[in-house]
Amino acid sequence: MALLWHLSFVLVWNFLGASAAIFTFQNKCPYIIWPATSSGAGKPPLVNGGFQLGPAQAATINAPTGWSGRFWARIGCTFDPSGKGRCATGDCGGVLQCNRAGSIPPASLAEFTPNGTQDFYDVSLVDGFNLPISIFPSGGTRNCGSVICAADLNRACPPELVVAAGNGARVACKSACLAFHQPQYCCTGAFNSPTKCKPINYSQIF
Ligand SMILES: *[C@@H]1O[C@H](CO)[C@@H](O)[C@H](O)[C@H]1NC(C)=O
Ligand SMILES: *[C@@H]1O[C@H](CO)[C@@H](O)[C@H](O)[C@H]1NC(C)=O
Repeated sequence: MALLWHLSFVLVWNFLGASAAIFTFQNKCPYIIWPATSSGAGKPPLVNGGFQLGPAQAATINAPTGWSGRFWARIGCTFDPSGKGRCATGDCGGVLQCNRAGSIPPASLAEFTPNGTQDFYDVSLVDGFNLPISIFPSGGTRNCGSVICAADLNRACPPELVVAAGNGARVACKSACLAFHQPQYCCTGAFNSPTKCKPINYSQIF
């Protein structure tokens, strides 16, 4: 469905040398999203951890040298003038500015770990899915590929993993680990290694 290309959250990652970076957030959804960020241990918070971004809007954030952390998008939020409220998905504890608070799953995550000569980045669905996120790096000295997660997995989400809004709309898809808390879905206990925790029906949906 062509529409899916418009229902996404896009991050353009500009390298500035020595691992400082500019992140440009583009909201390609036809509704407001509230991007959120949490920083890695010892790294400063960016933009106090969250802001509002309307349909077709873009916002730019400067990250200092060596910053690591993650971004996600919150949907269906209401905040009062003091910045307290809640979101249907991706909430970080009822505040607009997440500061150091992480996302309450499920939420799609964009993760960045600058590493000096080699930087790591990915889109992770380990905490489930709420909307498509893509990452387009630019200006790097290496061959840095785009990460395009374009599918709306809420449509393919099995009923036992669905998170629905009050009106019944599917707004997010839980991981099987979050839904069932069992070692074979969480790669814990007897399943605590890649050889023992193989892709299974639920993880393959993602
Ligand atoms: C970069 O990544 C490698 C491999 O994961 C790790 O061994 C190294 O400590 C990292 N270096 C920095 C500066 O974070
Ligand atoms: C996945 O496999 C489990 C265990 O065999 C089964 O109970 C469940 O119904 C399956 N779910 C889907 C969506 O295939």
